Amino acid sequence: MTTITAKPGNGRVVLVVGSGGREHAIAEAVARSPRVSRLLVTPGNGGTPGERFGVASSDIAGLVELAVREGVDLAIIGPEVSLEAGVVDALTRAGVQAFGPTASLARIEASKAHARRLATRLGIPQPRHAVFAPGDEDAALEWVRRVGVSIVVKQSGLAAGKGVSLPDDHPSVVVAVHDALTHGEKVIEERLSGPEYSLIAFCDGRTARALPLAQDHKRVLDGDQGPNTGGMGAYAPANPSADVAALCRKFIDPIVADAASQGTLYVGMLYAGLMWTANGPRLLEWNCRFGDPEAQVLLSLLDTDLIEVVEACLAGALETVPIRLRTSSAVGVVVASAGYPGELVPTSSRAVVTLGAPQGAAHLFHGATEMVDGVLVANGGRVVTVVGIGADLAEARDHAYQAASGVRLAGSHYRRDIAWRAPGLAVASYKAAGVDIEEGNRAVSLLKSSVASTTNHRVLRGVGSFGGAMDVSFLKEFDHPVLVASTDGVGTKVELAARLGRVRGTGMDIVNHCINDVLVQGARPLFFLDYVASSRLDASRVAEIVDGMSEACRVSGCVILGGETAEMPGVYAPGAFDIAGTLVGVVERDDLLPRPTVSVGDVLVGLASNGPHTNGYSLLRRVFAWASPDHAYGRLDRSLADALLEPHRSYLPVLGPILRDTRLKALVHVTGGGLVENVPRVLPQGLDATIRLGSWPVPALFSLVAELTTMDPAELHRALNMGIGMVLVVAREDASAIREKLGENSWIIGELVPSDGHAPCVRLVGR
Ligand code: AMP
Ligand code: GLY
Repeated sequence: MTTITAKPGNGRVVLVVGSGGREHAIAEAVARSPRVSRLLVTPGNGGTPGERFGVASSDIAGLVELAVREGVDLAIIGPEVSLEAGVVDALTRAGVQAFGPTASLARIEASKAHARRLATRLGIPQPRHAVFAPGDEDAALEWVRRVGVSIVVKQSGLAAGKGVSLPDDHPSVVVAVHDALTHGEKVIEERLSGPEYSLIAFCDGRTARALPLAQDHKRVLDGDQGPNTGGMGAYAPANPSADVAALCRKFIDPIVADAASQGTLYVGMLYAGLMWTANGPRLLEWNCRFGDPEAQVLLSLLDTDLIEVVEACLAGALETVPIRLRTSSAVGVVVASAGYPGELVPTSSRAVVTLGAPQGAAHLFHGATEMVDGVLVANGGRVVTVVGIGADLAEARDHAYQAASGVRLAGSHYRRDIAWRAPGLAVASYKAAGVDIEEGNRAVSLLKSSVASTTNHRVLRGVGSFGGAMDVSFLKEFDHPVLVASTDGVGTKVELAARLGRVRGTGMDIVNHCINDVLVQGARPLFFLDYVASSRLDASRVAEIVDGMSEACRVSGCVILGGETAEMPGVYAPGAFDIAGTLVGVVERDDLLPRPTVSVGDVLVGLASNGPHTNGYSLLRRVFAWASPDHAYGRLDRSLADALLEPHRSYLPVLGPILRDTRLKALVHVTGGGLVENVPRVLPQGLDATIRLGSWPVPALFSLVAELTTMDPAELHRALNMGIGMVLVVAREDASAIREKLGENSWIIGELVPSDGHAPCVRLVGR
């Protein structure tokens, strides 16, 4: 129990009536007020601050007696039962100021029939409805038949959110009507559909000022399933673009004005439950008090001293007080006992509520809790409300659920989807969801001309079609045409390229990588299709990438037949992109590589790589994480960025002329896995390769990596190409003739040796 210590000046003695989460939130706000010297709460709960008393909310005489005895200056009434029973009238008569409407005005909540009549009289938008007394079953059923729409049957009196049934077919309508009539007067109304919002306003008898809209979650289960409850969670601001002042003028002000015109002032909270229908907001109900759990959420956002506002209301001077709200958002999650909202599941021992330390941005409001012998126990349905505060709803929601997971109560449950409607409301277009179709179209128009530069008369359908089409009748001239296809990606080199803003080369990378993959099977490229994906589409960047692809295709006589540009927010990291491609080539069946002539004694002829190509970038990015990309390191003759981003070369120009030469037995593209993993891919069973380290000059970038890391040679030659990007397998006696035909430097880097029967492998020797 917290006793609010006396504060300087003439502090008020304030009594808060009620025992739920709402009253805990009100009591917390009162306790914060510098105008208050003493806080009394009755009956309160296991968590309310202030001095607790045992007078029940419905015991009007007891409440008056308590207030007078303790010298209460101001009573704030939480629950509707006290208001309906006339607590404000009684306290006022006893000379105690009370915040809340009189019993006659509280009928706006206590009698749904009265509320509907009032709304009709004041022209407030609401569903079609009719009021029936017990014995009127036939008339009620006749009304239902006549309006011919789905309906809602409501008990007219207070029912804690449980007096409403929404029958789905005629037999259940009959049952609902009969059931409801046994409870007295009832309202039958047209069943509307749409999201619901709680419009809650401070009223001073003449004017009203609404808080931001809140949204409650009345059903017990996720997905708004299961029976109605008092409220399983709420958030605010909900529907931030709604004009709250205009809603207040439509749904709240007329009530305040009407009461005043009849000589009674509506002072207190007035709550309009609204449904957003296709035809605009409609009134579902009024409540004569704060909502629960809306109060927990809204009071967590209120920055003005609650007592200042309440006193202004009581003085009819609400307009003089600024109602300031924090610029944050709040999400409240109600943790309920097992069985709620039905009969609570009895537990053998009394349930113990353990409160996980609320994070800095979470508040915890008790509802049905009690302290028993120093132990906090649950004694009802809605046990606690945890409210998360955050800069936006997403952050608030995270904080709320972090706090909720700290509440330990056997068998308890809470909804995991509080505020589920909010994200959708922020989405007015596909663009708002992160996908910009116009930017996609711009990308296509930008890349069209570079793609067109690769095309030829054989292309029948290209970019923009559902699929590419190519006339391959020329294959009739082949004896035995074989299509060779390869799909690959650029790998994490794209991360470096994106970071350094140099993406064109990655377009060349993917094409040349794929060309080399089909080339080593003896095939020449025919057509290529690409895939570029990014978190956020940047048409110019896509065009630059495709331009790189087009250049690589052009020089190799390959056509870009189609592609895909994907915008995938939430899949790729912001700023990141990914590239993949598929290339199809063609080869005469007799020229397919490797040839069956690969044998012991053949030599391996290496051709230079012009960089790491598209492999080993996860390693390279790590090794050079702290180096300056714009500077040369070690023996590099250019900047690190230039060395790392050098586009993968195509070996088609150098190998094209000898592809059909039968002396060329096999080709190895040194890709992921380096020489160690790739050479064995062309070896028949029974052969191993020996590769002599030092037989070719290792480029500066690779020797720098060898120097910087602690990798052994095998590991280095597995991760990186180490300067050899392509390997030819030829008979030793043909090596010099073939090498001469290549027209560029090459090295004999090893030979094939017999193996002892295990799967083919590479042995690194020397150095
Ligand atoms: P009430 O106590 O009148 O607010 O009703 C409880 C709940 O029943 C509301 O929050 C709605 O979800 C639902 N409800 C009440 N009236 C209607 C209506 N006319 N059309 C559709 N749903 C309604
Ligand atoms: N949260 C709904 C109510 O307080 O009536």
